[in-house]
Amino acid sequence: MIIAIDGPAASGKGTLAKRLALHYGLRHLDTGVIYRAVAKAMLDAGADLNDEARAAMVAQTLDPATFDDPALKSQEVGAAASVVSALPKVREALVSFQRQFAEQPPGAVLDGRDIGTVICPQADVKIFVVADPAVRARRRTLEAQARGEPADEAVVLADILKRDERDRNRAAAPLKQADDAHLLDNSHLDIESGVRAAIDIVEAVR
Ligand code: C5P
Repeated sequence: MIIAIDGPAASGKGTLAKRLALHYGLRHLDTGVIYRAVAKAMLDAGADLNDEARAAMVAQTLDPATFDDPALKSQEVGAAASVVSALPKVREALVSFQRQFAEQPPGAVLDGRDIGTVICPQADVKIFVVADPAVRARRRTLEAQARGEPADEAVVLADILKRDERDRNRAAAPLKQADDAHLLDNSHLDIESGVRAAIDIVEAVR
């Protein structure tokens, strides 16, 4: 079984993806981390984030062992990820890794922006998770503060809106709901209710 979960920044899709993977005994891939890893390598090298050839090279030689680096979670790396992820050659370089991950038995839950539309258009279940921008900003601010990163909610909100706008309007694999994806509005659900709603969608479809 392949479950595709897409949605904007801080919509809660990562938590839902992890919990669905646990529930169904599937592997989980947070695909945002891949773009964040490319972005961080570019930032560390002092490279121009729009240097497509260089970013594509970084993407081709990426080591998955770096995906759990806590530094990937910062707002700065997230914003840089939304710049490098708009580069078509970067996206191209990362397609086969994601597809292979999805297709290995017993299947997987992948979360990102283009899983249901580009990476796994044949996924068994597609969920598009949305939440009010103010709720998402609040969530991200609390997470950043819990990590000891100073975060101002208004700045986080502005950053999220800018990132959404870039992700939705890029030419290559923009953020959008697949025609056959189920919409889950996570604005007013706590984690357990959100997980329940996601499991209900999976059960109704599979
Ligand atoms: O989900 P996360 O905030 O970690 O993603 C960081 C950035 O990576 C997003 O803003 C988006 O630009 C990019 N991304 C993408 N496609 C994916 C996952 C993430 O373009 N499948």
